[in-house]
Amino acid sequence: MVLNKPSIYVTRKIPKIGLELLSSHCDITVHEGAEPPDHKKILSNIQGKDGLLCMLTDKIDAEIMNASRKLKVISSFSVGVDHIDISQATKMGIYVTHTPGVLTNATADLAFALMISAARRIPEGDENIRNNNWKGGWSPDMLLGEGVYGKTLGIIGLGRIGSALAERASGFKMKILYNNRKRSRSKEKKLNAEYRSLEDLLKESDFISLHVPLTVETHHLIDNQKLKKMKRNAILVNTSRGQIVDENDLVDTLEEGLISGAGIDVFSSEPLPRDSRISKLKNVVLTPHIGSATHHTRNLMSEISVRNLLKVLKGENPFYLFNPEVMKVKSLSSIKMF
Ligand code: GLV
Repeated sequence: MVLNKPSIYVTRKIPKIGLELLSSHCDITVHEGAEPPDHKKILSNIQGKDGLLCMLTDKIDAEIMNASRKLKVISSFSVGVDHIDISQATKMGIYVTHTPGVLTNATADLAFALMISAARRIPEGDENIRNNNWKGGWSPDMLLGEGVYGKTLGIIGLGRIGSALAERASGFKMKILYNNRKRSRSKEKKLNAEYRSLEDLLKESDFISLHVPLTVETHHLIDNQKLKKMKRNAILVNTSRGQIVDENDLVDTLEEGLISGAGIDVFSSEPLPRDSRISKLKNVVLTPHIGSATHHTRNLMSEISVRNLLKVLKGENPFYLFNPEVMKVKSLSSIKMF
């Protein structure tokens, strides 16, 4: 028997499919603004809630978790969970779920698009036409770039998205190198990928794409020293998290022409500040953190994030639990609300 419906705070208006499902089981408070709620707002709205459905733009720290003594589950509408203090959640017996899997293809598509866009200077061509700067028609030396077909792609982090990128690259007959915490012979075979140390991967690749989660170990993984190891014609692609690259070092390297270009979807500070140095550069292609931004993917993320949350409140295993150790702190059966 359900005495009270679970009470949930949702920090952004997510696609209808998830909100309708959630509201049929729970009392929900949805943040309606076009901008994310600030910390103070989350703090006041989380009071008395059983669950939180949050975005990667929300910093979910101990203060927030302590603001509701009833909080049982934090469901993130994202694959990355670097915005959540996971060890604190585990300590407090709070289940943290996320949405990997459903955004793999959309993000790998974008990484590949950034690679080609930066290599073939597509945004510069578009800008030239729109600004009436296309003079003289076809020209033998206009907007010369790099080819992609048959080149060497270095993938740092051969997880779901990195592997999906390798699949795409094989259609372009690229040589695929990878670096990963753990070497996987089965993936090497399946994806026709060769393992390299990080240093060798940086030295040998024409394109380098980052697919590691943001952790203490990966923060500024790509800095001045690593950038210096890359080829002069190299193009760096980042669709993971901005803080994995030292953005100032990247801008210095691009300004000095030590690498050829970059395709960047994620930044150390989002939205990108108006005076950011990176947006002044010609040899970069920039997108505003849209790796998973397809209608289909966002609908799936909405549904999965809600189903994850409902599963926990039903005392069942969620589809994607990020902190399984939490089960030793609090059992699912002790959470069960309906
Ligand atoms: C996007 O960056 C995500 O983590 O879902």
